[in-house]
Amino acid sequence: MSREHWERQASNWAAWARTPDFDEYWKYSPAFFELVPPPRGRTLEVGCGEGRVTRDLARLGHRVVAVDPVAALIRLARETDADNDYLRCDSAALPFADGAFNLAVFYNSLMDVDDMEASLQEAARVLRPSGTLCACVTHPIADAGRFESRDADATFLIEGNYLGPRRWLELPLVHRDGLSMDFSGWAYPLEAYFRALEDAGFVVQCLREPPAADEDQRWRRLPLFLMWRAVKS
Ligand SMILES: C[S@@+](CC[C@H](N)C(=O)[O-])C[C@H]1O[C@@H](n2cnc3c(N)ncnc32)[C@H](O)[C@@H]1O
Repeated sequence: MSREHWERQASNWAAWARTPDFDEYWKYSPAFFELVPPPRGRTLEVGCGEGRVTRDLARLGHRVVAVDPVAALIRLARETDADNDYLRCDSAALPFADGAFNLAVFYNSLMDVDDMEASLQEAARVLRPSGTLCACVTHPIADAGRFESRDADATFLIEGNYLGPRRWLELPLVHRDGLSMDFSGWAYPLEAYFRALEDAGFVVQCLREPPAADEDQRWRRLPLFLMWRAVKS
């Protein structure tokens, strides 16, 4: 379901992600990279899209293998960056040996994969003992509801359930400055992520809910993203 969604969105996503200073990545990713340990051994990026996170990891000195199931995005990533390896595969079935990586990165992809729990189990398998996992997801609170307006003091409304099984969020197409993107995807309560980490043998070292650094006061009142660093125990 999710892979088909991303195959349909591939060209929208590539334009969206490759427009400098356009989306939230440019504002929030510095807080994420503060959690990322220094390069050591090989780094895996899961759900790399067109490759911008891998290119930024490489700038920090990481030697990266990046994976995504969408052929068009892998092709774009390879065309832009010949120094790192890009491979088409699913996060729940990684074609790597046990313990092959020192660090696994999921940047805004864990809520997009079809099997979040199996993907964390696979990440744990391909990490060496004491290896690190760093992730950023849409904050479960942000997925649970919506602001009623764009006003700084807008009410945030949660209709239906926050707790419960994961659900597919059918979101309206976003249009901005001539670009469009459909961000529909899976939504989970906080506990689902942290139970899956626990079951995969990860211990969380630190967690961040960075406030927006821009003029949108609403996302200073509530977190749009959740980031963490965990270690394979
Ligand atoms: C929001 S994009 C993030 C891309 C990149 N990490 C970034 O931040 O620019 C989510 C990515 O997850 C990928 N994805 C979806 N299902 C996946 C799966 N089963 N395994 C690995 N990646 C998947 C999508 O193809 C898409 O490239």
